[in-house]
Amino acid sequence: MLKTLAVVGLQFGDEGKGKIIDYLASRFDIVARYQGGANAGHTVVVSGKTYKFHLIPSGILNKKICVLGNGMVIDPVELLKEMEMVEEYSPLKRILISERAHVVLPLHKEMDKIEEEIKSNSRVGTTGKGIGPAYQDKYARIGIRFGDLLDKNLLEKKIAINSKFKEMYLKENYDLKKIAEEYWRIGKKLKKNVVDTSAFLRKSIENGKSVLFEGAQGTHLDVDFGMYPYVTSSNTTIGGVITGLGIPPKYVGKVIGVMKAYTTKVGEGPFPTEIKDSTAKYILEKGNEYGTTTGRPRRIGWLDLNLVKYSVSLSGVNYIAISKIDILSGLEKVRVAYAYKIGNKIIRNLPSNIDDIYRLEPVYKEFDGWEFTELDVRKEIPKNMMNYIKFIEKFTGAKVRILSLGPARENTKILATI
Ligand code: GDP
Ligand code: IMO
Ligand code: MG
Repeated sequence: MLKTLAVVGLQFGDEGKGKIIDYLASRFDIVARYQGGANAGHTVVVSGKTYKFHLIPSGILNKKICVLGNGMVIDPVELLKEMEMVEEYSPLKRILISERAHVVLPLHKEMDKIEEEIKSNSRVGTTGKGIGPAYQDKYARIGIRFGDLLDKNLLEKKIAINSKFKEMYLKENYDLKKIAEEYWRIGKKLKKNVVDTSAFLRKSIENGKSVLFEGAQGTHLDVDFGMYPYVTSSNTTIGGVITGLGIPPKYVGKVIGVMKAYTTKVGEGPFPTEIKDSTAKYILEKGNEYGTTTGRPRRIGWLDLNLVKYSVSLSGVNYIAISKIDILSGLEKVRVAYAYKIGNKIIRNLPSNIDDIYRLEPVYKEFDGWEFTELDVRKEIPKNMMNYIKFIEKFTGAKVRILSLGPARENTKILATI
């Protein structure tokens, strides 16, 4: 029996990780999130009700222990709101927050906006949740950690020092003592939940407990391996599990990558297979491709297997879950990029330089379409759809084990057990 499984996004985020994690969580004792913050939006649909998680791991509805790891940047006000949303699942009993996780301050959110304004035409298109500035402070060693919320005097001091570094930028006037008071109150409320989650996880795994590691964002938003600078500020790939939770590599068992049957992206930056035609409009509306966190329409493109293959290789992905394959149902032809071209030259490896990435032209293979929706979940997969899946497996070298045919937990088809 599999003891640990790491979930990573294989594209630009929003691959359907929340849904897959909720589906898988029933088999695990603990679900632990390793990076990111409220920039994430993980949708879970259970018994006709839709939940959007930004901070709480998507295993909460399965009544599992949910860990918010040290690699996260957490907005305590948002966390409290989210805990209220799932009050019936006793979040106070089930949520453990790393004392080492960093805290997002209102100042970080304003800095996020200011940085985007300064960048002007080169803006990243962030979610505005203060993620970049909170991670900047972490690495500048001026960040506030969740454990600091338990000591009011210390918290006041740290917030005062932190704000000094931003004085020349900030336009709003902050009552720093008031922020410290509000955050301290939240700390007091969550005192029992704030622990050494790294020690907890290591001990739990040693004692035979099973853990599902929840990733946010996707490989091509990774601060090192994504399309820099159009990335988020954390490691969304496999290394993030180890540093973001404080566990040794030997405790990371298998890895499952989640991908959409096509590609979407929110925010700026290169997107080699982007399309803006009537098919894009069709997918946007049918797939309800609007950001879970910001409501922005997502950019749409054909499946880019070059990106997926890179992600599989980088994180050592064993299994793949494909979501939203129902959205492609009904299209006459479906395209997949399996190489790139710059001029007449075929490019098989993704360049690291952003200008080179902008120059990539996808090389496509075309597949005949299929009809298969959530109503067909128990039926045999049609031949054309199987060809698509087999091509993904062959090209990436990972096994497709889960197909998602709709947002709800039950609209899930297992091809083989993991
Ligand atoms: P995440 O950030 O990776 O968890 O993905 P999001 O929740 O941001 O975006 C995925 C969206 O697609 C959500 O609205 C889900 O409810 C929805 N979704 C997930 N899987 C499927 C699927 O297989 N079919 C359809 N039609 N919708 C899905
Ligand atoms: P989930 O976990 C999709 C994108 C933003 C922007 C860039 C940097 O739901 O898959 P940030 O606010 O992190 O500084 O923004 O990253 N982005 C996401 N796109 N899904 C996400 O999370 C994202 N989190 C950040 O749109 O382009
Ligand atoms: Mg999302």
